Amino acid sequence: MSDVILKNLVKNYGGKFLAVNDLSTTFKAGEFVCLLGPSGCGKTTTLRMIAGLERPNSGELLFGDKVFFSSRTGEFLRPEKRNLGLMFQSYALWPHMTVEENVVFGLAMRKATSTEKANRFKELAKLFHLDGLGARYPRELSGGQQQRVALARMLAVNPSLLLLDEPLSNLDAALRLEMRAELKRLHKTLGCTVIFVTHDQLEAMTMATTIAVMNKGVIEQMAKPMDIYHRPATRFVANFVGNPPMNMVGAAQGDDLAAWLGNACALPARAVETFGVRPEALRMAAPGAGAMEAVIDTIQPTGADWIIGLAVKGRPMFALSAEPPSAVVGETVGLTLKPDGVHAFDGEGRNLEVVA
Ligand SMILES: Nc1ncnc2c1ncn2[C@@H]1O[C@H](COP(=O)(O)OP(=O)(O)OP(=O)(O)O)[C@@H](O)[C@H]1O
Ligand SMILES: [Mg+2]
Repeated sequence: MSDVILKNLVKNYGGKFLAVNDLSTTFKAGEFVCLLGPSGCGKTTTLRMIAGLERPNSGELLFGDKVFFSSRTGEFLRPEKRNLGLMFQSYALWPHMTVEENVVFGLAMRKATSTEKANRFKELAKLFHLDGLGARYPRELSGGQQQRVALARMLAVNPSLLLLDEPLSNLDAALRLEMRAELKRLHKTLGCTVIFVTHDQLEAMTMATTIAVMNKGVIEQMAKPMDIYHRPATRFVANFVGNPPMNMVGAAQGDDLAAWLGNACALPARAVETFGVRPEALRMAAPGAGAMEAVIDTIQPTGADWIIGLAVKGRPMFALSAEPPSAVVGETVGLTLKPDGVHAFDGEGRNLEVVA
């Protein structure tokens, strides 16, 4: 297995707009990488360049020692020579082909014999619980079954790299959950490298072994999901991952709230421009129990927990609590902070703990 290596990749559309801006990174062999970022940040463009569906303006793209693209030497390996499994949001199955014909389509293109095709279908049908469905047409399948056929089709040719662009976004919540588990299991069983594009932070947190957070055509941070969550390198990453998002408080001098947060994070206060507090790091107590007080603005029970809108020194913040709130809307509560619950960002948006 090989690493996917991107060196100074640039893609501008129409010669002006930089969709991918001098991107250099390595996606390690065997990882499940989620490329996560807001709409328009360049995720699809990056994936399509790896797939060979989009030609970079400059830079290099390698798969181990195999050159996919190099503007230096002018090399460009055609997509069908890259041995990839591709799956996009519109993963449409061929409606006029049976499940079996759909699955072995790639093998048929490679002129495999009927025995080879039949054997491969048998293996994949077992892996994806498609036994007995081979003769059906896609319209005779449930959404989840269709999705599994699409996965089987992608894997039929034994790709060495899987590239997926928001393949779950058309599914309902229950099916998405099921498919996330399926993909995770698949990655574990096959051990192949997966690059999965999503703008859904929950999808990335739950599936990835590595998350690469993209913003404006570059990767702001690449790390394990728990590190992205607990040690976000930048304010952008901190804000993008987590729901409700991290509370951000300007570190203006002489402000009680900023001083309280500053006390909790033991960093040189003058360097801090913004404090960040995860909603679950804010805990409610009886009034007077903490050094800070807040008025409850809204209470949103989700069933599993409570999202509580607070006014803290007149500023809106969100707290997330596993316990029902001890007070009602309009009442005052005391606030305490979970240890290590406060992050501090400098003027350039860098997390001071991570930079240090
Ligand atoms: N074919 C194209 N021609 C011109 N501009 C394009 C083209 N494809 C993408 N772009 C622009 O490049 C930028 C990056 O697009 P890209 O599709 O990579 O974003 P994305 O991160 O996948 O977003 P989304 O989450 O919305 O799918 C966007 O501003 C987009 O408008
Ligand atoms: Mg996209």
